[in-house]
Amino acid sequence: MWLPAPGTPICARDALADKPARSFILCDPQDSENQLDIIVWRDGEDVAAFVNQCPHLKVPLETFPDRLLNSAGSALICSAHGAQFDRQGGCFVGPCEGDVLTRVAIETRSAKADEGYEVGRKIIVFAGVLSHS
Ligand code: FES
Repeated sequence: MWLPAPGTPICARDALADKPARSFILCDPQDSENQLDIIVWRDGEDVAAFVNQCPHLKVPLETFPDRLLNSAGSALICSAHGAQFDRQGGCFVGPCEGDVLTRVAIETRSAKADEGYEVGRKIIVFAGVLSHS
């Protein structure tokens, strides 16, 4: 799995104001074949992130852009076969029950010049992939 450099911007924090769960694809500027599809999921002030790959068939969770939450907005849901995932990425119902999404470590900081955001705007950045044990 290709990983972006730590500190790579994912999105503006306020991009999650209207849609609490969104997906973003980070690309290697040297090789567009290298990509990482990430889900960012906000719940109040808490923001969690995961690799957008269902543990059941290794496909992205959503069929339609950013349709990532169940009808109650309380869990991520895979549109393929309905697996649902809690805030820790654990599947609690569906064909991969007991399995987990791969967590992504993120940080929030102020944007710097040349990052594509207004300087000082709060952005969420990639900090690494957390292996699950
Ligand atoms: S591919 Fe996600 S539940 Fe089957």
